Amino acid sequence: MPRLAIAVLPGPGGLEPKSLFLPVPARVWLEIGFGGGEHLVAQARAHPDAVFIGAEPFVNGIAGLLAAVAADGTDGLAERIRVWPDDGAELLAALHDASIDRAFLLFPDPWPKVRHHKRRFVNAANLDQLARVLVCGAEWRVATDDSDYASWILEQAVAHPGFSWQAWRAADWPARPADWPARPADWPATRYEAKALKAGQKPMFFSFCRRPRG
Ligand SMILES: C[S@@+](CC[C@H](N)C(=O)[O-])C[C@H]1O[C@@H](n2cnc3c(N)ncnc32)[C@H](O)[C@@H]1O
Repeated sequence: MPRLAIAVLPGPGGLEPKSLFLPVPARVWLEIGFGGGEHLVAQARAHPDAVFIGAEPFVNGIAGLLAAVAADGTDGLAERIRVWPDDGAELLAALHDASIDRAFLLFPDPWPKVRHHKRRFVNAANLDQLARVLVCGAEWRVATDDSDYASWILEQAVAHPGFSWQAWRAADWPARPADWPARPADWPATRYEAKALKAGQKPMFFSFCRRPRG
């Protein structure tokens, strides 16, 4: 953990994520709420030219990621993964403008009760921060199995000037199926997705693109 953890965050916008890695990487990907880390590790293995920052406050989840990294003697995962063991919103606030090349938010806690909606990770403040830290053209991938949270995510992200939704156009239907019920092949499954499917839930997969600035 001392090798991988980001111990202290600088003030707002003060963290250039490339400075956490040697040699200086070409691109930095971010996963917020990585759970057991299986998606993060699979992406790191599939994309050896990218480095990864994960935010996750759940200690058992971090332990799962560390176990996968420790078990890996050959891929150099420890050199390409850094962990913020706390709130992803704090990490977002600390990151430099336009410093992240791709972001993932997979099955964030849906907080279904109306009085808990304010705890949802997708909110106006976090979307503003995410738009600030993503480079233009960056992809932001989101998954959820909660249809109410899915509507909430779409409503906010589609209305946000920083993002466009990469869905198939309705005019393409039925020649091409809508994209959101199908996980793309380069999007590894997570433990939570397996749980959701077992419980009869229908996961949805959304991809947004960071629009050009100004
Ligand atoms: C339902 S789980 C999904 C985990 C994983 N993404 C998956 O698909 O298996 C939600 C995860 O988000 C984490 N989480 C909740 N609030 C968070 C926050 N503010 N910042 C970072 N992670 C958070 C939780 O600890 C939990 O591991």
